[in-house]
Amino acid sequence: MTVRLLNGVFSQVLLKPACGCTTPIVPVQFLGISPFQVPSRANFHSVSSSDTEHPRVLITGGLGQLGVGLAKLLRNRFGKDNVILSDIRKPSDHVFYSGPFIYSDILDYKNLREIVVNNRITWLIHYSALLSAVGEANVPLARDVNITGLHNILDTATEHNLRLFVPSTIGAFGPSSPRNPTPDLCIQRPRTIYGVSKVHAELIGEYYHYRYGLDFRCLRYPGIISADSQPGRGTTDYAVHIFHNAMKSGKFQCYLKPDTRLPMMYIDDCLRATLEIMEAPADSLPMRTYNIGAMSFTPEELAQEIVKHVPEFQVTYNVDTVLQAIADSWPMNFDDSNARKDWGWKHYYDLPELVTTMFNFYTSESRAAHVS
Ligand SMILES: NC(=O)c1ccc[n+]([C@@H]2O[C@H](COP(=O)([O-])OP(=O)(O)OC[C@H]3O[C@@H](n4cnc5c(N)ncnc54)[C@H](O)[C@@H]3O)[C@@H](O)[C@H]2O)c1
Repeated sequence: MTVRLLNGVFSQVLLKPACGCTTPIVPVQFLGISPFQVPSRANFHSVSSSDTEHPRVLITGGLGQLGVGLAKLLRNRFGKDNVILSDIRKPSDHVFYSGPFIYSDILDYKNLREIVVNNRITWLIHYSALLSAVGEANVPLARDVNITGLHNILDTATEHNLRLFVPSTIGAFGPSSPRNPTPDLCIQRPRTIYGVSKVHAELIGEYYHYRYGLDFRCLRYPGIISADSQPGRGTTDYAVHIFHNAMKSGKFQCYLKPDTRLPMMYIDDCLRATLEIMEAPADSLPMRTYNIGAMSFTPEELAQEIVKHVPEFQVTYNVDTVLQAIADSWPMNFDDSNARKDWGWKHYYDLPELVTTMFNFYTSESRAAHVS
């Protein structure tokens, strides 16, 4: 039986790694140099004393839609070498040379622990996941990554006293939840493995907070819209692809019905919210899981706004019954009044600003491509 000291509370409870490995938990100082350790220029052992006041951040699943942008935001704030991106995929040259990157499979508990110890991580941002559409296509893998992987993350974060951020989603609600608006606390009976795994993450994260003092923080993101990163096959992704198609061909075939209303957010608001909740004083967080909202629209309303920029733009509808059923069970609007009251959340982008920002991005990209 392993005996651990958790945040000053002497605990006899065995926290067995979710991978099932039987390796005893050894004191940090006995761990040697690892092949997983990031290069010395990125190693926190070499940072100056003023740098050590910054958190040292590990982002898992960092090569998806959100991780690279978050790394950029956090590196601007805390210094390039204080933020390590990780994933199981190979990074592009641009990502690889823009700051520390390391291989990390969240299903490998020992690997996670080594990275945290050797790089003196203090904040863990857990982005690895299989999103809604991919999860329904491969439930066993989604269960492994989204649930077993999360257990490894929770155990590592608890053992090393990390501040842990795990995003949740509108998908954590289901058909029996109030949908317009959806409050923080209500019935949550999602019907996707993605949603079930996120409710599990919210509940077990909060449980670890109350049971072991884990500094667990969680935001329920709406569908996130970004111009420079591809989404990971979620139900709200039409709202990203529509812009690319409007610019390229002036046409788009939508897999959701024209009146399907879902909460959405521009990526800059989402990443800023993540930084803000991570920096919020613990006593400003009476809850550990918050809804955050910005705008809510239907494909038809989005198309009408896009027509203001591309007058010839046309949308046709070819409904995907699986994705439509998922969308029909999700919130139409988030009630995020607790986030606004407790830690001062506010969004900057509504639908018109979002559409203008997306077109400005694509126009400057195509100008740059034209010039080069
Ligand atoms: N993008 C959205 O609209 C949105 C909305 C709500 C919540 N979220 C949440 O935010 C987080 C990030 O979302 P995203 O859109 O960047 O996701 P994404 O699907 O684009 O990226 C997820 C990343 O996880 C990685 N991954 C998969 N298996 C892994 C493993 N075993 N070990 C390590 N990494 C692994 C993948 O390689 C991928 O790069 C997720 O937890 C997601 O549930 C996203």
